[in-house]
Amino acid sequence: MAPSSDERYEPPESFVEQANVSDPGIYDEFEENWPDCWERTADLLDWDEQYDQVLDESDAPFYEWFPGGRLNASYNCIDRHIEAGQKSHAALKWEGKRRETRTYTYQDLYGEVNELAAALRDLGVEEDDVVTIYLPMIPELPIAMLACARIGAPHSVVFAGFSADALATRMKSADSEYLVTCDGYYRRGNAFNQKSKADNALMGLDRQVTTVVVDRLGRDLDHSLDDDQYDYEELLLTHAGTTVSPVARDAEDMLFLMYTSGTTGQPKGVIHSTGGYLAYAAWTSRAVLDLKPEDTYWCSADIGWITGHSYTVYGPLALGTTTLLYEGTPDYPDRSRLWEIVERNAVDVFYTAPTAIRAFMKWGQEYPADYDLSSLRLLGTVGEPINPRAWKWYYKHIGGEDCPIVDTWWQTETGGMMVSTLPGIGTMKPGSAGPPLPGIGARVVSEDGAPIDPGERGYLVADRPWPGMFRTLYGNDGRYREEYWEPFSEGDDWVYFSGDGATIDYEGYITVLGRVDDVINVSGHRLGTMEIESAIVGVPGVAEAAVVGGQHETNGTAIYAYVSTDHSRDPDETLRERIVESVEDAIGPFARPEAVVFTPELPKTRSGKIMRRLLENIANREPLGDTSTLRNPEVVGEIEAAGRDD
Ligand code: WT7
Repeated sequence: MAPSSDERYEPPESFVEQANVSDPGIYDEFEENWPDCWERTADLLDWDEQYDQVLDESDAPFYEWFPGGRLNASYNCIDRHIEAGQKSHAALKWEGKRRETRTYTYQDLYGEVNELAAALRDLGVEEDDVVTIYLPMIPELPIAMLACARIGAPHSVVFAGFSADALATRMKSADSEYLVTCDGYYRRGNAFNQKSKADNALMGLDRQVTTVVVDRLGRDLDHSLDDDQYDYEELLLTHAGTTVSPVARDAEDMLFLMYTSGTTGQPKGVIHSTGGYLAYAAWTSRAVLDLKPEDTYWCSADIGWITGHSYTVYGPLALGTTTLLYEGTPDYPDRSRLWEIVERNAVDVFYTAPTAIRAFMKWGQEYPADYDLSSLRLLGTVGEPINPRAWKWYYKHIGGEDCPIVDTWWQTETGGMMVSTLPGIGTMKPGSAGPPLPGIGARVVSEDGAPIDPGERGYLVADRPWPGMFRTLYGNDGRYREEYWEPFSEGDDWVYFSGDGATIDYEGYITVLGRVDDVINVSGHRLGTMEIESAIVGVPGVAEAAVVGGQHETNGTAIYAYVSTDHSRDPDETLRERIVESVEDAIGPFARPEAVVFTPELPKTRSGKIMRRLLENIANREPLGDTSTLRNPEVVGEIEAAGRDD
């Protein structure tokens, strides 16, 4: 775990002078006017109809933000900037894997989003129909999201690296009958067939799905379409020049769904609203990322995760910024790729994850040193705790000791950033995210909900709602209440539980320690141990499996799988391969276990519960502590030995 260091850094004067938010009084302003303070986030948007109220708490924890208000997210991200004279301003800059580049002005974006919106409508998509989008980092991904938003159809973006099974589960769960995907994409220079994955997923669904297929590979892959499959380009051609007037949505209407892993085998469909979510994404982009319309801004996260939704697409575009999209990986064709992109595009603000920073560190400072990174004004990080050493490396070798760093804590469920310093105000302490943002009730509490002493480990909660919060889980209000609200709420005092452990210091700075539930954060991707375990247990020959997270130099955490086999067989290499394959089939290659350790039995308590803590200690080669409560203490030595041979 990353303790915060005692070192302190102040934002440079040159940054403070130009910052969107630089008055420390903002924290008090929000406190004194809560919840009306949130109007200032709604004011960043154009509303078709003004809301009646800021917050309706009458059905808590099912809060409503800006009820009565009506707006359209695509209008707010595109049309209004054109009306304000920004039609030739770049909205989207794309850097493809094969060094292709494309720029979409706000006018270009308007044209293509409208044509696709018209096409989707003609294919039968109606308001409130969920459209699944299964695309890599190509411009058609944000375009499809905005086209859905335009016609009031919630999107459900499934990260392109997910397997066919994972796609099918998500489409089924969301009752989605529309899919936008592509023929394939390049992975490290090789053409990779995405459409066959999508086709496999559709075979497993018992409903008719209408599919739109983007041609990413220029016919490098055989591109055969069935009756209910349509070529994206052709749809645009047949709808050339068509416009669709943006559908005014209730502030509380669903803008999108995003699946995330939890502690059960079933992924959760997190629902985000149109008004509160967009207002909060825009506000935090302005206050924390300091975005301005003239900025070129780059968030390196994939749009398939929440970071890309809030901080590549919705927040930056709502503010009229130029947002950069990169299709590739940081080390292909070489380790200079990102810095070459920063230099060539004169990127102002860069937002990435600690796992990437640790990889940059490992590769060496010579790669960024070869490029002119002086356009950078602000750096951000998200997804996992960042250790002070990585923070300082980022500060020095990427920021040139001249850019503040915002370490932003938030989650799929929170919709936007919750804990971070404000870059023009706060002292930075490497390793500690900072205080709660203005108006946010993030607290660190003990098991019984009482505030915890500085330095003690506690649970990270939020004791007030916020506009960007999720509204429920798709089709599962019960799980929403039970998992997120019941653990720490008492009576009518609703408290949101994040699932993270944290500490707080004397100045109110929060250091996030990581998950306290059975969720593993690998390279900033959230994975549920149950999902992985059920994929492993499905392999013939496997009796039981337990999956834990072990520390990993670049990925933060890696997956360690402990597996016991049927007595009839001895484990062998093919079993190990089948286990890994099964996990890749069920979830995707990014969930691949780092190690599969065979053991005659899993360590269990007398009541038969698997001792995961102990396995975690074994994975991390830490002292095991008391093993006397085990029913089978003798297996511990065997597991340790097996782990070492692995
Ligand atoms: C989990 C949420 C929302 C961004 C991408 C991940 C961890 C996130 C930080 C941070 C320490 C962090 C937490 C959280 N996390 N940001 N700055 N410092 N930990 O979204 O998949 O919903 O995962 O990521 O453990 O609960 P997600």
